[in-house]
Amino acid sequence: MDIDRRAFIASLGGTAAVSLMDSEAKADALEHWMEDQLDQQGATAQGTAEKFPTVAELEAQIETRNYRRGAGNVFVNTRGNVRKLEPMPKNPTLKDFFRLRFAPANHVLQSATRAMKTGMSEEIILACLLHDCAQALMKADHGWWGAQLFEPYIPEKSTFGIRYHQALRFYADSDAGYEYPDLYYRIFGQDYVPPPHIEATYKMLRNHKWYMEPRLVTVNDLYAFDPNAKVSIDPFEDIIGRHFKQPKEGLGNDNSPSAHMWRTLANPDAPL
Ligand SMILES: [Fe+2]
Ligand SMILES: [Fe+2]
Repeated sequence: MDIDRRAFIASLGGTAAVSLMDSEAKADALEHWMEDQLDQQGATAQGTAEKFPTVAELEAQIETRNYRRGAGNVFVNTRGNVRKLEPMPKNPTLKDFFRLRFAPANHVLQSATRAMKTGMSEEIILACLLHDCAQALMKADHGWWGAQLFEPYIPEKSTFGIRYHQALRFYADSDAGYEYPDLYYRIFGQDYVPPPHIEATYKMLRNHKWYMEPRLVTVNDLYAFDPNAKVSIDPFEDIIGRHFKQPKEGLGNDNSPSAHMWRTLANPDAPL
C-alpha cells in the first residue's frame, strides 16, 4: 500500500505530536492508519453498505483470541508482543500520563478540540479530554473506571460526564445532535441490546438535571478517523491548570482513593 506520509503525520497531530510518541505507539498508529485506508478503499470499491456482525458471531470469536476484548491498552497488544514501557517520572503529572501511557490519545484530543471549538463549558472540555483515558487500564465499563480514576482531581460535573457517557452512547438524541454510531454495530453486533444496568442508567439520566453533561461528551465523541485533524494537549493546558488538582507528590503517590489505579498504569508489568 502507498502511504501518504504527510496525511499520516497530520492524522497524528503533526510532527510535534509524533515526536512525543514512542516507537510502539507509532507502529500501532501506522497499522491503524493502513487498516482504515484499506477499509475505505474496500467500501468504495464495493459501493455497498457494510455488513455488520451479529452478537452471536462476535461471541464465536472469543475463543479464537489469547486476550479478552475488555483488557486495557497498556496490558495487551493485539498485533504482537508488548514493548518495554518508559518509566514514569518521580512525581508524575497528568501530562506525563498522556505522553507515556495514554499516547497517542488522538481520539480524546480530537473530542476535546471539538468541544473547545464549539464553545462548550470548561467542565465539558475537560470531560471530553479525559473521557476514554481509562481504556488504557480497562475497556469494559470504561465510563465508570474513568470517573473513578479522575474523581479525586476534577470537578463533579466532569466526573459525571465521564461516568455516564458510557451509557448514553447507546441511545440516540437527535435534538442534541447524537446518532447511534455505525462503529457500535461493528464492535457490539448489529442486534446488540445494552445490559440492564446501562438501560437503568439511561432512564435515570433522562430525568437528571445534569443530563447534558454526559450527553455533550457523546456529542463530541468522534467515531470517524479525521486524517486532517491536528491535535495536541497544549491548547488544554490552561483548563487542566484551572480544573485538574494535580497532587504535588505525583499521581499514584498521593494516597487518593484512585492512587492505586495510577500506580497500576505507571507499572503494568508488576506481576502481583
Ligand atoms: Fe467512551
Ligand atoms: Fe470516545
